[in-house]
Amino acid sequence: MIKYLGSKRRLLPVLEQLAAEAGAETALDLFTGTTRVAQGFKRRGLSVTAVDAARYSEMFARCYVETDAAAISEADLDEALAHLGSLPGRPGYVTETFCVSSRFFQPFNGERIDAVREAIERDYAGSALYPILLTSLIEAADRVDSTTGVQMAYVKAWAPRSFNPLDLRRPALLPGPGRAVRGDAVELAPTLGPFDVAYLDPPYNQHRYFTNYHVWETLVAWDAPEHYGVACKRVDARDPTTKSVFNSRRTMPGALAEVVRAVRAELVLLSYNDESWVAQEELEAMCAGRGEVVTLSFESARYVGARIGIHNPAGVKVGRVSHLTNREYVVVAGPPDCVRRATAGLRRDGALATAAG
Ligand SMILES: C[S@@+](CC[C@H](N)C(=O)[O-])C[C@H]1O[C@@H](n2cnc3c(N)ncnc32)[C@H](O)[C@@H]1O
Repeated sequence: MIKYLGSKRRLLPVLEQLAAEAGAETALDLFTGTTRVAQGFKRRGLSVTAVDAARYSEMFARCYVETDAAAISEADLDEALAHLGSLPGRPGYVTETFCVSSRFFQPFNGERIDAVREAIERDYAGSALYPILLTSLIEAADRVDSTTGVQMAYVKAWAPRSFNPLDLRRPALLPGPGRAVRGDAVELAPTLGPFDVAYLDPPYNQHRYFTNYHVWETLVAWDAPEHYGVACKRVDARDPTTKSVFNSRRTMPGALAEVVRAVRAELVLLSYNDESWVAQEELEAMCAGRGEVVTLSFESARYVGARIGIHNPAGVKVGRVSHLTNREYVVVAGPPDCVRRATAGLRRDGALATAAG
């Protein structure tokens, strides 16, 4: 699983428990990112629809959510991965842009990323293996990158992991049905479903996923875009169509309220943290129209960049990180009997740190 801002690895057991105790059979993960939560729901037997605006996220969802493991031959997949993994490096866009003009990967890995990506397009476009191989490549590239986790900058001296050779591994596919959808959550929320449970995990600050993960976006689009700046970002990062309403303090609260109102699900689970622009009370007020509202709260470590410290472009530490943990919240909203059923186990276990409503 790739390094990803806001990834909900630690919250996953709680989200799974809420969905299971609600008796959910269908789920929507509307800001699916890594698809971690969608995978958790799918693993529990739910039929999941995973949505995100990002191209790489759609590719992960096609691999982990939409692909039924039973329909894929492991032997064929392993053969394809072994073949791709054996290809000699061939310098192309990745090498030139992300190894020479910038330093996201060491050239020996960049050349192999170029060769593998070309071969995936040439030999597997349109095949069921395509999203799986592309996901494997992105995950392999992520393991040998030279960043602190986001692609707005690379570290000054090569990161130790960047010396490792690119290693294509088989993604852990899950059996069962699912669907991947790429698009804007505000537009899609009223059109999808109905679902038993919807999980909402929007961006909650100005940091754009499109620019933070522009290398993955380009690896999927494979369109050799013109680029700008030290980080060689795609030129279309300047295009308003690549901007999200959830990254603006002015537009985010209204957009979120609209999604919460419009999403077609019985139970709504809404994630946010105490670094969000919207306060707990506002979120609870947004959800009040859906019935009963209960808020769960969890202590959580901040993302790796915060732990490493604040650096200037030369790599010199210039500031101190004010805190290393934050609080994560899950607002649970829906008809009272459904909310009580979903949270009964957590109440029993004493895991309900705060409860409102
Ligand atoms: C906090 S992250 C979700 C992380 C995810 N829950 C996980 O565990 O990996 C927010 C996601 O919202 C997506 N996003 C941003 N604006 C969006 C929009 N308008 N519609 C749909 N997705 C959007 C981003 O691409 C990002 O993947």
